[in-house]
Amino acid sequence: MRTISWMKETVRQARAENHVVALVPTMGALHEGHLSLIRRARVDCSRVYASIFLNPTQFGPNEDLSKYPRTFERDVEQLTDAGVDILFAPDAKEMYPPEFRSYVNIEGLSERLEGRSRPGHFRGVATVVLKLFEIVQPQIAYFGRKDAQQVRILQQMATDLNLNVEIVVCPIVREPDGLALSSRNTYLNPEERRAAAALHRALDETRRELNAGTRDALQLQSTIRRVLSNEPLARVDYIEIVDAESFEPAVRIGARPIYALLAVFIGKTRLIDNLLIEPSADENAPVCSL
Ligand code: PAJ
Repeated sequence: MRTISWMKETVRQARAENHVVALVPTMGALHEGHLSLIRRARVDCSRVYASIFLNPTQFGPNEDLSKYPRTFERDVEQLTDAGVDILFAPDAKEMYPPEFRSYVNIEGLSERLEGRSRPGHFRGVATVVLKLFEIVQPQIAYFGRKDAQQVRILQQMATDLNLNVEIVVCPIVREPDGLALSSRNTYLNPEERRAAAALHRALDETRRELNAGTRDALQLQSTIRRVLSNEPLARVDYIEIVDAESFEPAVRIGARPIYALLAVFIGKTRLIDNLLIEPSADENAPVCSL
């Protein structure tokens, strides 16, 4: 579906038939990470709608919007195979007509980390996702933990603006060497692709240290830095250990969920990854999700 009015009419009918509607928003160039969200939605919901919209407002002036991979025909095949009922794929004019003026800003959470490296990024993400929620009116929307700060911001938006949507966070899908799947991985040449496994290696080493008893955030941060410094093609943008709710820096791993977050340039390509650390009943063994 290309237009907002068709999409709204379709959703109206589905809701009138008492369907539970899922939305999986994407920017296309689909891979197994995206498809894992669709499959999860398929289990939970009777109607699964996906969107492909390469959202210009979330790209900075020096970012890769024009280079971003576009594989629409293949995306449609993959979505069909995964059992998507409807694909919403509007063009930029449909979503942002010339008179467009309204933006959503989630203050505080949006300026740090990804937001600091990519000013305005989360304003663009929140705006487009709110528009998609309004158009598709899903009961449940699915996002990947790969973009941990993004999903935290969207959860805050849903709470603050009393949106009638449940946000489900799905695990990170990885390559056999641990590299998190990302549309941007296609930018890597073979040597860079090999080097990109360093992100996962660094987080895996962090997990090992946690299991060996380290609780000090600075120590975990320096472990990550050490592993990454062994990879000559890697240039660190940030390494942060933060509270998983506030995204403020954490000092110690304790009773609250924590993220170890990385953004690393491999050549010209900027990659992100994270480790989620959650307290468990056994104080000595936090649950680490890579
Ligand atoms: P995009 O980068 O296309 O990602 C779409 C969804 O797929 C996001 O929720 C993202 O977290 C998830 N995803 C990407 N790689 C993943 C992986 N390896 N494992 C699990 N999930 C993964 O994120 C966006 O698009 C945009 O910002 C969007 C939310 C669509 C707004 O424009």
